[in-house]
Amino acid sequence: MFNPIHRTTMVLSAAGAMVLAWSSPVPAQAPAPNAALIAANCAVCHGQGGMGAGDIVKINDKTPAQIVEAMGAFRDGKKPSTIMGRITKGYSDAQIAAVANHLGKK
Ligand code: HEC
Repeated sequence: MFNPIHRTTMVLSAAGAMVLAWSSPVPAQAPAPNAALIAANCAVCHGQGGMGAGDIVKINDKTPAQIVEAMGAFRDGKKPSTIMGRITKGYSDAQIAAVANHLGKK
């Protein structure tokens, strides 16, 4: 006999399974980070090439290692920030390394 409650439960669990399938995973190999594209996001605040803009500090006077270190400290909450703590959480270690090499002092 047709049971509307049972039917709804089945539809919902099927939907749940689909959501699980969609939200699972991470490609086997992440694409190489696009350093120039990431740096363009930083430029919105830090100026073109990290040269500084308005009240926002320049970052192109730091070495790549110093940028990586600062980004890690922001992400872990060890370095106080208004915004960088949130921004750093949006990037993988590989992306941070790539953008640090791109913007850092050569
Ligand atoms: C929305 C504006 C904004 C964006 C976008 C942004 N920053 Fe920042 N950044 C700041 C501010 C403001 C500070 C000072 C710390 C704070 O208050 O968060 C800062 C600080 C830093 C510092 C530390 C500088 C120092 O002298 O200690 C580094 C390194 C840095 N940002 C790198 C980056 C990189 C790399 C990107 C791009 C992935 C980026 N930022 C994107 C606003 C921004």
